[in-house]
Amino acid sequence: MLSPSTFLSISIFLLLFSFELSNAVSTTKIGQGYRLISIEESPHGGLIGLLQVKQKTYTYGPDIPYLQLFVKHETQDRLRVHITDADKKRWEVPYNLLAREQPPPLKKSLGKSKGELFTASEYSGNELIFSYTSDPFSFSVRRKSNGQTLFNTSSDESDPYGNLVFKDQYLEISTKLPSSAAIYGLGENTQPNGIRLQPNDPYTIYTTDISAINLNMDLYGSHPVYMDLRNEGGEANAHGVLLLNSNGMDVFYRGSSLTYKVIGGVFDFYFFGGPTPLAVVDQYTAFVGRPAPMPYWALGFHQCRWGYHNVSEIEGVVEGYKKAKIPLDVMWTDDDHMDGAKDFTLDPINFPREKLQAFVSKIHSRGMKYIVLIDPGIATNSTYGTFIRGMANDVFIKYEGKPYLAQVWPGPVYFPDYLNPKTVSWWTDEIRRFRELVPVDGLWIDMNEVSNFCTGLCELPKDHPCPTGKGDPWVCCLDCKNITKTRWDEPPYKINASGTHVPLGYKTIATSAVHYNGVLEYDAHSLYGFSQAIATHNALQGLIGKRPFVLSRSTFVGSGAYAAHWTGDNQGTWLNLKYSISTMLNFGIFGMPMVGSDICGFYPQPTEELCNRWIELGAFYPFSRDHANFASPRQELYVWDSVAKSARNALGMRYKLLPYLYTLNYEAHISGAPIARPIFFSFPNLTEAYGLSTQFLLGSSVMVSPVLTMGATSVKALFPPGTWYNLFDMTKTVVSKQGHYLSLNAPLHEINVHVYQNMILPMQRGGMTSQEARMTPFTLVVTFPSGATNGEAKGKVFVDDDERLDMKMEDGQSTYVEFYASLTNKMVKVWSQVEEGKFALNKGLEIEKVIVLGLEGNGVGLQIEVDGFPLKDTSATFIENTPSHVEKLEGNNQKRGMMVVIGGLELSLGKNFAMSWKMGIKG
Ligand SMILES: *[C@@H]1O[C@H](CO)[C@@H](O)[C@H](O)[C@H]1NC(C)=O
Ligand SMILES: *[C@@H]1O[C@H](CO)[C@@H](O)[C@H](O)[C@H]1NC(C)=O
Ligand SMILES: *[C@@H]1O[C@H](CO)[C@@H](O)[C@H](O)[C@H]1NC(C)=O
Ligand SMILES: *[C@@H]1O[C@H](CO)[C@@H](O)[C@H](O)[C@H]1NC(C)=O
Ligand SMILES: *[C@@H]1O[C@H](CO)[C@@H](O)[C@H](O)[C@H]1NC(C)=O
Ligand SMILES: *[C@@H]1O[C@H](CO)[C@@H](O)[C@H](O)[C@H]1NC(C)=O
Repeated sequence: MLSPSTFLSISIFLLLFSFELSNAVSTTKIGQGYRLISIEESPHGGLIGLLQVKQKTYTYGPDIPYLQLFVKHETQDRLRVHITDADKKRWEVPYNLLAREQPPPLKKSLGKSKGELFTASEYSGNELIFSYTSDPFSFSVRRKSNGQTLFNTSSDESDPYGNLVFKDQYLEISTKLPSSAAIYGLGENTQPNGIRLQPNDPYTIYTTDISAINLNMDLYGSHPVYMDLRNEGGEANAHGVLLLNSNGMDVFYRGSSLTYKVIGGVFDFYFFGGPTPLAVVDQYTAFVGRPAPMPYWALGFHQCRWGYHNVSEIEGVVEGYKKAKIPLDVMWTDDDHMDGAKDFTLDPINFPREKLQAFVSKIHSRGMKYIVLIDPGIATNSTYGTFIRGMANDVFIKYEGKPYLAQVWPGPVYFPDYLNPKTVSWWTDEIRRFRELVPVDGLWIDMNEVSNFCTGLCELPKDHPCPTGKGDPWVCCLDCKNITKTRWDEPPYKINASGTHVPLGYKTIATSAVHYNGVLEYDAHSLYGFSQAIATHNALQGLIGKRPFVLSRSTFVGSGAYAAHWTGDNQGTWLNLKYSISTMLNFGIFGMPMVGSDICGFYPQPTEELCNRWIELGAFYPFSRDHANFASPRQELYVWDSVAKSARNALGMRYKLLPYLYTLNYEAHISGAPIARPIFFSFPNLTEAYGLSTQFLLGSSVMVSPVLTMGATSVKALFPPGTWYNLFDMTKTVVSKQGHYLSLNAPLHEINVHVYQNMILPMQRGGMTSQEARMTPFTLVVTFPSGATNGEAKGKVFVDDDERLDMKMEDGQSTYVEFYASLTNKMVKVWSQVEEGKFALNKGLEIEKVIVLGLEGNGVGLQIEVDGFPLKDTSATFIENTPSHVEKLEGNNQKRGMMVVIGGLELSLGKNFAMSWKMGIKG
């Protein structure tokens, strides 16, 4: 859905930033620091310390005199450092939203200490060591294995930052960083220079309805977490740092240091020891919540548009895909199906219930799904059931005791308060009622930063209608008072959210508004989308009894356990095509692996060439959806013949790769492993890959190298050392000795997708829907290094019935198979090891083909055995492989990898198998 800011943002922000900036003090040292006056061991594990301010200062308010420090190695590789007011409970991310250990109760600053005095200067865990200095207090975190300092808050005279500062509305802390540190994360942000953070770019973290076309600004989500990857002496180590805090903050990354300036809450740091990028994400998601498992169909292709006028139009779209033979799994509507943009209603003229139900049953019978949008704003319409029941249950956010009035698409609205348990019950019931009206398969929660077209405290206008009826529903039509009276609206330190010259509540809820239990919007603002995603996910799960699908625009730490994400409103430009990769990769690091951008761009109209290139890239986004705005001409993939051709090619490959993608979805759910990952995840030692944001990996071994520039018919791509096989034509091989850039052909309809050596890739035949594709027989692609005489390869596949809620192995509802291959002196062996084979056996899943790449020798006199019996030799074919990009082959230049294709197999996926043969020798 369009945000008004999509159109207006550029001009608004130019205007804002032309004012003199008030935070020119950003390099001034604010406080005098604290001294540690006691530290002792907690009876429940960890250390508890008491800090006293050295000298009171008053910039941004008075210092809090005493702080309680709590430090604990919570797991082998997770260290927590929690600092809060020792005398008074402060706001923290609610423990019921993000479950974690409660720090020990406050001891009060003047209370007598009772624990064991802690006398050591270091507190050591398995992988991380915490140490501190007492006066001024500072702490550092070191890695045990190599002594590297990961975090160090001490400050010298020469540093552009000072000591720890802790005031009611201003918290500051800094760390030094070595020049070797590559930093990733701190979003949500569109990063024109790629995934690696650039020193001195602004990193403000606060959820806003600022669209993805705005560079280096705080966008829809809040993720105050970074990964730090350092290559010292040829060996790379990664760790992660989360500051679990929902208040707005500016993070200043200067290359050699990083400073947090936060306007509330507490310091609640979590250090994740890694030491690989995958281990960091594993440890991070073990803490914030594992990514929600996605239903199988969600990995299919999705089509949406804001501006499908009626049921006939969406029927036409489904037919259009069918006729063009382009796969399609999910049809979406934005707010067009609604009556007057009101959630949970249907437009009686254009989307009448019977017609829509008939459409939904028809696509359901073909295995397809239907998803609709909902916004948080509930129209204040006295004849609207959802609103009436909301009022009766008192579910809305309030200002001075009355529901807070805002304006979004339907006009005047109130916002549900998802921190209130009564709101959650009401919301669940509204979803239940709606699903009785039309059985939607998932929900898309948009505008939940939360977006408001007005600012401040507003009333219904007495002298004009609202919306004005002039076709500009995004222009504020309420009568609003400028709220500057409270310190929650205009805090002493102004973060750079929507600029620094507007109130914090600019185009959202006034930050002095209150939630359930007196919680201030000031504190809970960035949790809105997160709390809504939890309520929506849990509602769908309870109602459908199946794995829910929720797509959320606004996200917070932990949202991945409940929802998928798309990168919001983008533009149909080549630059936006490129930016989509970095944002997607960042969300993998944030523990939200199900992510993608609007394919072909949300607005304005993409060129035909761009749309070709976008579907080629978008076919490999974890979440693959074409979406456009009503102001753009139609851009479904069948609209242009050339785009249709590229789509059949690229989506055709995606649908063949669905078993691999689904297995990645499973791995994401059990270990947090991103589905789409930066190249450095598999090649952490390869420093050239640290900033690489024009290519990415799916899982560990499938590399996507898209064309991102106009007019190009080739692409320059980095190939980490080893053999890479083109998935579209496996005879095309890249052998890279050291990790070089190579120029590859990329005609308009082709994208380069390569699979790395030592892999066994599970594929199927594909199909027009994921339901059709998943029943087809499997092919295993086994990759040895080109011309190898010895080697090993591995792979796996997870299959289950995606109707069930979780992905647990033990209930007989899933099968997990590991595949192995070995090559020893021309002897090739391929075998499987099945866990819980029953599910695959019941479904009759079979392997029909095994393709082995990179072998030396030929097929002369070759005898294949399967499970000890010879195979009819008619079923095998041998193809001489002609490496297209042999950079340098070691030793004998004549070595050519052979491709052996063994077809006509009927191996049960659910049963162990073993096959073997010896390669022939020419002559
Ligand atoms: C932290 O920085 C201080 C000041 O630069 C330095 O003296 C100290 O050794 C550092 N601590 C660690 C653990 O690296
Ligand atoms: C605030 O953000 C804008 C937009 O990214 C940037 O141009 C500006 O320099 C930032 N101001 C400060 C004080 O960081
Ligand atoms: C990176 O280099 C180190 C040290 O040479 C080595 O131990 C490690 O296996 C390498 N990692 C990868 C993934 O190649
Ligand atoms: C659906 O909308 C389209 C575009 O506005 C229009 O041409 C068509 O007549 C409508 N069909 C029905 C059945 O209303
Ligand atoms: C309230 O909703 C009804 C039904 O959609 C609509 O006809 C009416 O115009 C709405 N009232 C206002 C004040 O918007
Ligand atoms: C809000 O009030 C402040 C302080 O009086 C003023 O500077 C600002 O221009 C006002 N903003 C609007 C949008 O009226």
